[in-house]
Amino acid sequence: MLFLVTAGPTREPIDPVRYLSNRSSGKMGYAIAAAALARGHGVVLVTGPVAIPPPPGARVVSVETAREMHAAVAAEIAAADVAVFCAAVSDYRPAEAAAGKIKKDGAELVLRLVENPDILGDTRSVFGYGGVLVGFAAETGSMERHALDKLRRKGCDLIVANDVSRSDIAFDQDDNEVLVLDRAGGRAWLPRAPKAEIARALVARIETVAPG
Ligand code: CTP
Repeated sequence: MLFLVTAGPTREPIDPVRYLSNRSSGKMGYAIAAAALARGHGVVLVTGPVAIPPPPGARVVSVETAREMHAAVAAEIAAADVAVFCAAVSDYRPAEAAAGKIKKDGAELVLRLVENPDILGDTRSVFGYGGVLVGFAAETGSMERHALDKLRRKGCDLIVANDVSRSDIAFDQDDNEVLVLDRAGGRAWLPRAPKAEIARALVARIETVAPG
């Protein structure tokens, strides 16, 4: 099967030298790409800027902003059998990026932010994707309730929830601990383990819901 995996953060420019972003390292998405390749699947990895090398064998599409990631997914999704949205997409971007470096002038600086497109949210409704759809949910409280709500709202088959308020897992860590929820009401805890191990378990679970 062909997997499309989004990974890493996005960067939303403020001016030519500054941006809004987040602490995503790309490790979880890259581990999923590696685990899918190890199982003999093809992988298109749509990735924001990260400091780690992509797994050998993945076709890499590098992007910076949420809008670029949205366009890359729109272009690649039709060929995919499985889509895993692991990227930590910036929900907002500065309304306009200044053409030159913003200089300080002693006054308060107000940045006006506008909402970015929801890539996962558009995948069924706008891109018309009919394959297996796996979302992630980064939560800091009421994890299961929020994750289930996202699963339904965004038309996912599976959603992988992690508690991003913990400093020992998830963002920029080598380990993760996740709750996997499916549309039929199934739930499975994957206890704290290296992201490579979590990724192997997720790919195995995805294979059980994917046709063929
Ligand atoms: N996602 C996306 N495009 C966005 C925002 C999120 O594709 N603009 C995807 C993420 O890759 C993830 C899922 O949506 O698979 C949920 O992301 P999360 O940040 O947990 O949720 P949001 O939809 O941003 O909702 P909220 O900020 O209200 O928690």
